[in-house]
Parts: sequence; structure tokens; C-alpha cells
Amino acid sequence: MKVWYRIRQWFMAVMIGIMTRQPKVIKGSGSLARIADNLEKTGKKKVFIVTAPVFIEWGSLNKLFEALKEKGIEATVFSKVVTEPTVELVMEAFGEYKKAGCEALVAVGGGSVIDCAKAVGALRATGRSIPKMRGVLRVLRRLPDLYAVPTTAGTGSETTAAAVITDTIDGKHYKYMVNDFVLIPRYAVLDADLTLTVPAKITAATGMDALTHAVEAYTNNFASKMVKERALDSVSLIFKNIPLVYEDGSNVEARDNMLYASFEAGIAFTTNFVGYVHAVAHATGALYGILHGEACSIILPYVLEQYGEKVYGRLSELADAAGVKGASKEEKAKNFIAAIREMNEKMGIPSKIEKLKREDYEEIIKRVLKEANPLYPCPVIWKKKDFEILLDKLIKE
Ligand SMILES: [Fe+2]
Repeated sequence: MKVWYRIRQWFMAVMIGIMTRQPKVIKGSGSLARIADNLEKTGKKKVFIVTAPVFIEWGSLNKLFEALKEKGIEATVFSKVVTEPTVELVMEAFGEYKKAGCEALVAVGGGSVIDCAKAVGALRATGRSIPKMRGVLRVLRRLPDLYAVPTTAGTGSETTAAAVITDTIDGKHYKYMVNDFVLIPRYAVLDADLTLTVPAKITAATGMDALTHAVEAYTNNFASKMVKERALDSVSLIFKNIPLVYEDGSNVEARDNMLYASFEAGIAFTTNFVGYVHAVAHATGALYGILHGEACSIILPYVLEQYGEKVYGRLSELADAAGVKGASKEEKAKNFIAAIREMNEKMGIPSKIEKLKREDYEEIIKRVLKEANPLYPCPVIWKKKDFEILLDKLIKE
């Protein structure tokens, strides 16, 4: 079984290495408004802007609107995305896109906003319905240029090849993915000004989500040279900057570094997947309503510890990037895990999953195995009993 898993994972790694691409980066304070320059350069006269109502309310897009006006570029704004987009919402947005004759997309917001814009782009590119594009490699056509502008540093949505869509079939709600490399945004716009108002708790959770992306992509098997470089840089930036943005949210330079770290971690996991930390975070997060990043940061040190000596080498390299010292690979690896625990504690992130209940183990493990095996090339392949051991460490009794 394990050999078959590894062959499948190696094949996926090769395929992704061939097919993936990276967004071009427009970065730095004020880069949101610079989208207008790029649209002008690429000859686009009509742009469709997808966002959440709150960003219109706060005036977060005003500088972009001014810049577009100055260049004579017409903007159509769709600001109805408040949660994961439904098929109906995407269809409504696409209707407005077509009506206005838009030629490019700008998405300003979190994962849901960026996913909605990706789905609109996929509809424009293919003329197919969303359910027909469900699954892997069902789009296969170039989307209109998409500028993804994240408003938190962590999810890495500006780099990913997937859009999560909610659908209703026979009265039941389903969540599914449209997954295709053509969905990777053409541009990632990393403007720290948009993240300055993110509260400390969300800053901590999303930042630790980014750290988990980098660490899981790096410790997974089959990490390419590019994945390793991106992940190491991301870890180095996060260790230096997360304490700064947690203490002072208005530190633009540190916010800028966190956005770039999140982008790099996004590239790393889009290419080499996440791992068991994410699988357990998804299952427990859905059951108990825990913030995704917070769930990741609680679970991360326990999973790394349980991988044992198999990951000492890889963790010691991450420790070097993070500036964590040790006399041997084993000591560096252990000190790196301890440093993650210390960061969690300083940012008020709990060390256990407080709502975890023993009677839910079975359901959690069922979901985790379904998500992670054989897809994620984790450094050690775990079975049911390994997850029982892990959950016993995470439970607060
Ligand atoms: Fe994540």
C-alpha cells in the first residue's frame, strides 16, 4: 500500500512540476492602485472588480477607483461576496461581467472573493456551467487576466489553482472544488495597506496558517528545489515578522513581509501540497468551528513531533532559516518545534483543541484519511491508530 501511495505521489509531483505556473507579483504599499497602470499597459479598458461589501464600506478600494478613472478604465463593481460563493452568486456576477463587456478581473478580499472571481473567469473562458467544471482539469482554457489582491496574510489564495463553490443539488448543500492550473491568478497584488486593520487574533491565526503551508510543503516528500527555496524564505520571514505584526498591526514593513511570506508559502503548497496538519485542521475546524489558522497552529507542533526522526533533517534546515539554534539535527528539529509552541503561547493561541471530544475521533479520522491518503506526500504515512495517538495529545481532559 505504502509503495503504491509513494508512486502515485511521485507521479503527481512530476505532473504538477510540468503544469503549474506562478502569478506575477505587484507588491508594496500602494500597489492596489498600480493595477490601473498594468491594465492600461495590457490594453484593457473595462475591468470587473469582485469584493466584499465591507471593503466598499471602509473605502479600501478608493485609490484603485481613482487610478482607474484617471486612466479612463471603466470599472464594474460586484461587492456581494460575504461567504464561500454559491453557483447562483457566481452566475449573477458572470451576468454582470458579460453585460458590461469586461476584459479583466480584479478580486480584492479573502479566499471566497478570489474564488468567486476565478469561477467568473472560468465561465468566461469555457462557456460551460460550474457543475460541469467540478473536479480536476475541467477548465483547460486561458482565463481573462485575474489580479488577486489578498486582504489577509495567510491563506495564499492568490497563488492557488482551486475555487471552492457551494451548490445545492436536490435540496442538499454541497461544497466542491473546481481545480485547474488555469485558475492560478495571472497577478498577485500584495498591498500591505489593505492588511493594516486586521485584528491581532486574525493576524496571528492567518500568519500561522502560512507558516503551516510552508512547513508542510517543505517536510513533504518530493519537494522540488523551487518549493524548498520558497518555503525556507517564507519560514524565515514569518519567524522575523509575525511577532512584529502581532504587537503592532500598523507596522507596514512587517505586514508587507508577512504578505510576501504568505505568497511564497502559497506557491510551495500549491506545488507540493499540505499534509496531516491541514487534514486534521479541516476536520476539527468544521466540527467545532475553529478558525482554520488557529487549528493549524495548535496541531502543527504535535504532528511534527510525532513524525519523529524521519523529519529531523528537514526540520533542522527550517530551523536554520528561522534562526533557531541547536548542536545537532535532532536538537535543531526539537528546538524548532519548541519555537513554534513559544510563538503560539505569546500570541494567545491555545495548546489543545478545547472542544475535541473522544466520541468524535471516528468521524474526524474518517475525514482525515479521506482527505490526506494517498494525496498528500507526507513524510511518514499514518494509519488510523497514528491519528488516535495524535488526537489523544490534542484533547483537553
Ligand atoms: Fe491553510
